[in-house]
Amino acid sequence: IRTAAVIPAAGRGVRLGPGAPKALRALGGTPMLVHAVRAMAASRAVSLVVVVAPPDGAPEVRHLLDEHPLGDRTDLVVVPGGATRQESVRLGLAALPEAIDVVLVHDAARPLVPVDTVDAVIAAVRAGAPAVVPALPLADTVKQVAPQPQGTPEPVVGTPERALLRAVQTPQGFDRETLLKAHDTVVEGEGATDDAGLVERLGQPVVVVPGHEEAFKVTRPLDLVLAEAVLARRRA
Ligand code: CTP
Ligand code: MG
Repeated sequence: IRTAAVIPAAGRGVRLGPGAPKALRALGGTPMLVHAVRAMAASRAVSLVVVVAPPDGAPEVRHLLDEHPLGDRTDLVVVPGGATRQESVRLGLAALPEAIDVVLVHDAARPLVPVDTVDAVIAAVRAGAPAVVPALPLADTVKQVAPQPQGTPEPVVGTPERALLRAVQTPQGFDRETLLKAHDTVVEGEGATDDAGLVERLGQPVVVVPGHEEAFKVTRPLDLVLAEAVLARRRA
């Protein structure tokens, strides 16, 4: 069984504020993308990492990653991405060689995921689950609302039972055929915000394994503060 990790890194990072594309911003002096690539290569099972670069930035990303070499164990491919995350993942999947049968999809924006989480996802796929997501219970209560024009308070429609909810992270792991079929079948804009969501739309089972609090997504400026602190604690 051969496992590859596809890392979508083509987003601008609008919510993080002005600057370089999010994946190329520094964390502890090293680009976030380099952390994410290392986090995947840290798993002994991962033999290939496919990085999906900003559409016009593949040569620069290739150059950047060549300056931070991985061990001999892990091959690296860089491809240009697309306008949406779903399109970027599809472009990454198109670069997979035939020999790969387990695929991880991991956000570059989750640079600090521990290797134990990566290995747990891979193990669950290898044990027979076609789709596996790492996830954590929620701290906040969640309300469903009826969206209103800006400035109008939103009426609450319902409160899902918190104990049954999970906040989903990456890497998500898949049997290769299942993920390719999901990306070939499900049309963009049907509301799937993660890869497992596409598999769900095919009616295929998805299972959850425990996530990790350090696998949080760097989305807003405060997340960068937390990420720097986690890194400093690791280095202490
Ligand atoms: N991504 C991608 N291609 C896109 C959009 C997003 O590869 N066209 C990637 C991002 O680079 C990121 C991951 O998908 O690693 C998760 O997306 P998100 O956290 O939303 O990142 P951005 O889209 O860059 O951020 P924002 O939505 O704030 O602009
Ligand atoms: Mg986005």
